Amino acid sequence: MYEMLKGHGIVPVIKFDSADDALPLADALAAGGIKIMEITYRSEAASSAIEQVAKERPDILVGAGTVLNLEQLKAAEAAGAKFIVSPGFDETIVVEGLKRNLVMLPGCVTPSEIMAAMSLGLKVLKFFPASVYGGIKAIKSLASVFGGIKFMPTGGVTADNLAEYLSIPQIQACGGTWMVKANLINGAEFETITKLSQEATDIYRKIRPDET
Ligand code: 3PG
Repeated sequence: MYEMLKGHGIVPVIKFDSADDALPLADALAAGGIKIMEITYRSEAASSAIEQVAKERPDILVGAGTVLNLEQLKAAEAAGAKFIVSPGFDETIVVEGLKRNLVMLPGCVTPSEIMAAMSLGLKVLKFFPASVYGGIKAIKSLASVFGGIKFMPTGGVTADNLAEYLSIPQIQACGGTWMVKANLINGAEFETITKLSQEATDIYRKIRPDET
């Protein structure tokens, strides 16, 4: 189930104000070596953006983020999302997503949340907001207890601490907005986005040469 996440160590967390930006952004990220997009339901444009990328850029792995309810889950799947990220753990959403063969990445930051996710068979969990819930130190402590679980920290990950996060083997991938800030997307600053993506990709390749 998690096979598809392999090689995608950097996950841009994207909010589109307009779905017209979906393909230009997909191309800008890909030019910088990032071939995965988490398109969040923080805007009305999410489903249309997911659909365009899924249809027009089949080499990019597209998923939905900030999925808060079943309606969004179903819309994301219909649009072509392959993985579903939620800020927190909601059993109903996870169970429904698993039934639909989607890769489910709910946010879990406490031992109890992690155990609830494990009981549904999950092995990769979002850890959000990472900087607030203890960051690297917390992930290391949790990883020592929950063998076999991997985390995707987001919230406070940047180019400055990316290497430190990626050097922890129990981190599946790092997510964040630092290369896809609203001002960059809305200002059509796609060259800057490519540059920031390339910088992140270079760090990823340096820390994990075997994955990339
Ligand atoms: C997320 O949902 O993963 C966060 O909004 C990303 O946080 P960041 O803006 O600190 O990268």
